[in-house]
Amino acid sequence: MVATVALTGAACDEALSRVTGPTPNLTVSFASIQRDIFAAPDSSGRPGCVSCHSDALARFNGGLSLQSNPYTSLVGAAAVFKRGATRVIPGDPNGSYLIQKLEGRGGIVGARMPFGGPYLTDGQISVIRRWIELGAQNN
Ligand code: HEC
Repeated sequence: MVATVALTGAACDEALSRVTGPTPNLTVSFASIQRDIFAAPDSSGRPGCVSCHSDALARFNGGLSLQSNPYTSLVGAAAVFKRGATRVIPGDPNGSYLIQKLEGRGGIVGARMPFGGPYLTDGQISVIRRWIELGAQNN
């Protein structure tokens, strides 16, 4: 029984690094999402979100800065372009405008993010989804 649990744990870690692809260090925590997705480019040629969503450029880019106060800019924060939408709703990835923009869903205002691509991989998005599902903690 102990061996089974240990194996399952190992299999989980392995699965996570397989899905995170061009951001191998990405884990389900806000600190990691900030460091590996928002602030940095990845090995697939995707620019960091902050190349547009910096403090200085935020007003040209949906009023969203992911530089100085990324957590408060997202969690419970109203979207600028889509009336009534909230960027991140803890526990509700589908309802979170951040996820809708990253997946390019119908009903978004403007473009799929990152603007002009390359877009995040399904694996990268699934890590952000999981973080929201687990309550979008500032961890
Ligand atoms: C090349 C510039 C550029 C990059 C890179 C970029 N964005 Fe954007 N973003 C924009 C622009 C311009 C807008 C406003 C127009 C729109 O919504 O299409 C925007 C809007 C948004 C919005 C909606 C803001 C609101 O409240 O209406 C979200 C959420 C967002 N971006 C998230 C991201 C994330 C997350 C990344 C990185 C994975 C990213 N963006 C990368 C240019 C960019």
